[in-house]
Amino acid sequence: MTALAAAPIYERVLRPLLFQLEPETAHQLGQFALRHELPWSLMPSRNDGDRLAVKVGAWDLPSPIGLAAGFDKNGDAVPGLQHLGFDYICVGSILVQPGSGNPRPRMLRYPETESLINCYGLPTDGLDACVAKFKRLAARPLRARLIANVHAETTEDYSRCFAALEPYADGVELALRCPNRSDHLSVYPIDDLDELLSTLRKRWPDKALFVKLPPFANDQEKENRLQLVEHAISLGLTGVTIPGNWTIPEARLSRGQGSLSGRLTFANNLATVQAISAVSRGRIAIKASGGVHTGAEALQLLEAGATMIDIFTAFIFRGWNVAAKIKAEMLALMDQRGIARVADLTAAQR
Ligand SMILES: Cc1cc2nc3c(=O)[nH]c(=O)nc-3n(C[C@H](O)[C@H](O)[C@H](O)COP(=O)(O)O)c2cc1C
Repeated sequence: MTALAAAPIYERVLRPLLFQLEPETAHQLGQFALRHELPWSLMPSRNDGDRLAVKVGAWDLPSPIGLAAGFDKNGDAVPGLQHLGFDYICVGSILVQPGSGNPRPRMLRYPETESLINCYGLPTDGLDACVAKFKRLAARPLRARLIANVHAETTEDYSRCFAALEPYADGVELALRCPNRSDHLSVYPIDDLDELLSTLRKRWPDKALFVKLPPFANDQEKENRLQLVEHAISLGLTGVTIPGNWTIPEARLSRGQGSLSGRLTFANNLATVQAISAVSRGRIAIKASGGVHTGAEALQLLEAGATMIDIFTAFIFRGWNVAAKIKAEMLALMDQRGIARVADLTAAQR
């Protein structure tokens, strides 16, 4: 094997080319390349037995590794994405009305820290167009669980999104706020969440339901988010996410600020998972989101109480087979440390 063939093709060859492009253009190119199953369906599929398997509500996931919301906002790239080793794919955020989000530039890379900053502001094709795409996707079995991530302003609009998408999605994730819109709420009203979740739960008691809560930046916000987790548990939700990201100023973005993601956010993600796990004690799946680039980081989160691991920024930095790389690294570490199955780690949290 030549040195080049042995080297990771993405990091050595493709990434330098893609990183010559404006980040959003490179993102669009990636999405475009993934619209069709070929050539992705030719990629060898891994069989890791049940060593990485996790239980999430009624689901048995082959591994905890999935794609976070935001890469594929409308479901166009799912045909290719399903072959990349992600065991769940979050599509969205989907809003009722189509919208173009904030003006460009709205994404930048920080290559030295393998991080990104974005102020996309939730561009979406809108509910009707997304339902049509989900319908087409649901016509054939997919190789990953499909989660529709929706964002709305009112309980009525969340219900409308839920009703329209749930027949074609395995689960629905409610994104409760976007840091790049004006609706940032420092302390999220618990009554609003209760009304929203109990309305949805009453109508769809069996559908996998996830909620993505706003991150917290101080003790008051932390207490508020942990109370929201407690309510999510009492209302019978499947999973909860509090991402590790936060907003920073960035003069080169159209809005002068954006949401940070990638390696810089891992420590915050880990601390957040530890805080949720201390109150939830295994009663709800914790979907960890922020800065996971390696199998070691994924394992650290599982040991801290996470059940599912969202990946996004690492996809940009490590390439199309990032999920396979992370799984292989997890298995190698598990061998070294004598861990038979990931489920043993998650069971230990109860
Ligand atoms: C460019 C970009 C767009 C995103 N768009 C959304 C979105 O529309 N809805 C959402 O819930 N999260 C969105 N996110 C947040 C991700 O789902 C995830 O929580 C975050 O990026 C942390 O994970 P990472 O460090 O692996 O990227 C976006 C992230 C990025 C980088």
